[in-house]
Amino acid sequence: MTTTRALLDEGVDRLRAAGFETPRLDTELLLAHAIGVERTAVVANGEAPAGADAEATFRASLARRADGEPVAYIRGIKEFHGIALAVDKRALIPRPETERVVDLVLAEVMTRLTARAGAGTTEPLRVVDVGTGSGAIAIALAVGLRARRVPADEVAIAAVDLSAEALDLARENAVGHAVGDRVRFEQADLLPPTPPTAPWDVVAANLPYVRSSAMASLPTPTTFEPAEALDGGPDGLTVIARLMDALPDGLAGDGAAFLEIGADQGEAIVALASQRLPGWACQVATDLAGLPRTAVLRRPVA
Ligand SMILES: C[S@@+](CC[C@H](N)C(=O)[O-])C[C@H]1O[C@@H](n2cnc3c(N)ncnc32)[C@H](O)[C@@H]1O
Repeated sequence: MTTTRALLDEGVDRLRAAGFETPRLDTELLLAHAIGVERTAVVANGEAPAGADAEATFRASLARRADGEPVAYIRGIKEFHGIALAVDKRALIPRPETERVVDLVLAEVMTRLTARAGAGTTEPLRVVDVGTGSGAIAIALAVGLRARRVPADEVAIAAVDLSAEALDLARENAVGHAVGDRVRFEQADLLPPTPPTAPWDVVAANLPYVRSSAMASLPTPTTFEPAEALDGGPDGLTVIARLMDALPDGLAGDGAAFLEIGADQGEAIVALASQRLPGWACQVATDLAGLPRTAVLRRPVA
């Protein structure tokens, strides 16, 4: 019987020889997935036999990884903002940088709920995740609000995408996290034409922002993801610019929009906002590495 350590060594050697950046992490994740245990258990029990079925599954996974397929698609799972989301080729694999958008939107929603407390408001806050993909932002937000004991009827969350396949996956994830009652899914081009009763209070969006000319040189794992989730047009900001155009009508007077951008698009997004939304405030929030990652747009106070 082959031990887990022998399989780990085999996997690391194969992925290292193929030039992968994180051969040990990838191998541990794939072997743990094949055996059906946590990664730490694989590392801690090197002398344990893996079992014939797990060995065959692991070798098949390793071959897929060696061909460049992302580990998340092979495992069918990606951790995002403290939750595990199902992922497959129907949608982009959620990235760690998008957790920043969730944090900013959660803080915004909690501030607004606190400000409204005692004001006798019965209408829910209306939040929309535009380009939801796997449902990452909307579902993490719903889970975060539930953890903060915010009743489901205080915040109405909508999640939209152009892709029907992505929306199917997002619905499955919402059910998996028991927030199907907190998130409404809809197929739409950017903002749905008629918000339920009034404009949106908070817009969150991680839309495509890769320049079309850069699509051909994306790293191999990224080529397994849907192109329409990545291609942001000639300047990378074409889809985001269209969303900006929809904000004057779609966003409430005191609303706010949180848009993820590429790490090299900080200056470009400020210039675009001043062009498309003259007079609006556009602040760019940075990530932990100090890189510009989220544009926050607010209408001027009348
Ligand atoms: C970069 S992916 C982000 C997915 C998800 N929000 C995340 O962070 O993992 C962009 C998503 O926007 C969707 N999308 C692209 N253009 C759109 C449009 N005009 N209206 C709605 N969704 C769009 C794509 O189908 C894709 O699911």
